[in-house]
Amino acid sequence: MRIGYLQFTPEFGEVARNLERVALALEGADADLLVLPELFASGYQFRSREELLELAEPPDGPTAEALIRVAARGGFHLAAGFPERDGDRAYNSAMLVGPQGRVGVYRKTHLFDAETEIFEPGDSGFQVFAVGEARVGLMVCWDWIFPESARTLALQGAEVIAHTANLVLPWCQSCMPARCIENRVFAVTANRCGEERRVGDGLRFTGQSVIVSPRGETLARGPEQGEALEVVETDLALARDKKPTARNDLFGDRRPEMYRLG
Ligand code: ACM
Repeated sequence: MRIGYLQFTPEFGEVARNLERVALALEGADADLLVLPELFASGYQFRSREELLELAEPPDGPTAEALIRVAARGGFHLAAGFPERDGDRAYNSAMLVGPQGRVGVYRKTHLFDAETEIFEPGDSGFQVFAVGEARVGLMVCWDWIFPESARTLALQGAEVIAHTANLVLPWCQSCMPARCIENRVFAVTANRCGEERRVGDGLRFTGQSVIVSPRGETLARGPEQGEALEVVETDLALARDKKPTARNDLFGDRRPEMYRLG
């Protein structure tokens, strides 16, 4: 299976322009699954809930339609972050689409910093979907710091974690190998780069998108700043063998009865 990411700098509020840019960047990409950053078409720093609701879309909105056209032309699946509108509520969501259309949506469980003031906490639960022979789980940015996120996906059979991100803190990229080793999964963290100066001192995003193997190897790592498209070939068998030794099974050896507090 060929998995990859597109790292770039979206322009806030310029949804059509960002979608065109992604379509152009992915022309000719040879992949089965490509991951785009969190909120890749809208931008990140909303000034208010009202502004967020204006840019938020339902899962069958113009962003989904445009991504399905790109997926159909390229013959690959796309995982991408978008502000999801549901009535007068908005979720920080990720969608998975393929050449045949929409596959599924995940609503970010763990909101980060100012997101807590404008987005609803996600209520979808962690979601795993089929992409060809592979099982692909979705998670969004700050979900990474809770090991439960990747573990919940892996326990549901995820072999690849598609992680859409707008990272501003410096730790995620070096923690993803741990998430991959402890769950024996591949992970693609698609981060954005550039800056947004819309609220307060603004934000600088940390780039360095990463693809990590179940052995914790970094298979690709993007630059700190600048657009990058990377695709790597993976052997899913590595994510299907959960036995690090003859006597150990990562999931079978779990002892949930010992994980109680006190
Ligand atoms: C983040 O969750 N965007 C850091």
